[in-house]
Amino acid sequence: MFLTKQEERVLAGEEGVGRQRAMELLVAVGKIYSAEKLIPIRSAHLSGVSYKTIGDGGLDFVSEMSRDAKVSVKTTLNPAGMDLDRWREMRVTDQFAEKQRAIIDAYGRLGVETNCTCTPYLAGNVPGPGENVAWAESSALSFVNSVLGARTNREGGPGALAAAIIGKTPLYGLHLSENRVPSVIIEADVEDEITDYSLLGHAVGQKIGQSIPFFKGIRPGVDGLKTMAAAMAAAGSVALFHAEGVTPGWEAFDLKGLERVAIGRKEIERAKESLTTGKDPDLIALGCPHLSETEVTNLASFLDGKKMRSDAPEVWFCTSRTVRTWCPKEVAVLERFGRVLCDTCMIVAPIEGIHSCTATNSAKACTYLPGLCSQKVVCDSSQRLLEAIL
Ligand code: F3S
Repeated sequence: MFLTKQEERVLAGEEGVGRQRAMELLVAVGKIYSAEKLIPIRSAHLSGVSYKTIGDGGLDFVSEMSRDAKVSVKTTLNPAGMDLDRWREMRVTDQFAEKQRAIIDAYGRLGVETNCTCTPYLAGNVPGPGENVAWAESSALSFVNSVLGARTNREGGPGALAAAIIGKTPLYGLHLSENRVPSVIIEADVEDEITDYSLLGHAVGQKIGQSIPFFKGIRPGVDGLKTMAAAMAAAGSVALFHAEGVTPGWEAFDLKGLERVAIGRKEIERAKESLTTGKDPDLIALGCPHLSETEVTNLASFLDGKKMRSDAPEVWFCTSRTVRTWCPKEVAVLERFGRVLCDTCMIVAPIEGIHSCTATNSAKACTYLPGLCSQKVVCDSSQRLLEAIL
């Protein structure tokens, strides 16, 4: 892989150990994928934040990188294992909270913005069409690739951090136009409803794995697109999709000869049944990916004026700090029914041992709750889940 004189100097350690390690990682990845060179990136988004998922090894890695390196582009952070203010209400232990704080502080020293959310594109980190970025978090990177038309590979936490420090990423994969063309047509017939888009994403991800789908027959808004992107990435490894009349540049593709897959009511119901493994949840958790301002507003208007039954399960509304600040009145309504939590989510928080059955409207969360959180799962729409607490 071609390196400029300045990149050679970084690799030789002339600009410090942190930058050297970051460059070593980028060069190693570039060699594996036969990248021609490094290209500049506009922004980065990092996963690998919760102490639950990265443990002491991850804390040591980020602390070491933060000793003498700084990010050189706008860099945002994925959810942590707790609401950084309200962690005691989540029954997080002092020991976990201390480690989690240390991780966030290390990212802060690196110059990373510590508004921990998986929807940074709704909170100020908004790459433009054609811009190269290095994003981790499968749901977010699929959204920026597909809906915003930016270009990122499916980065892991360390790769995205290395790219953020150097401000560059190897030129390969989804940074190249020829690797962004659709390979399968999805003929979808679903309700215009968040849970249906999520289940559609799940069914498609399971069916096509890593392919690039081209959707026909759907017109999701931002919230449908973000939940569909999340579910597709979790059930398969879809990092980019196109949708007729919806995503940028969809008209440019030649679809002749592509395989066609039909997904309708039957597949949606089957996906919902396969994800449901329990009943009588002791936690209802909404906001995977983090709730948008529109979703918070819709949930608040549904609940406003209603009463919660006394034996209802605990309810979490997971969102970003930005959105929570934007809609104080709606948040006040939701707080009468549950907790509006920031910085975290039902998957990366240590809910195992505290809860045993979680209900959610997100197919992505349903996919991860059994393995990562030892939960039984109830999959249903937010409206039906909330009706059950009234
Ligand atoms: Fe976000 Fe957590 Fe879901 S990071 S996409 S809310 S699993």
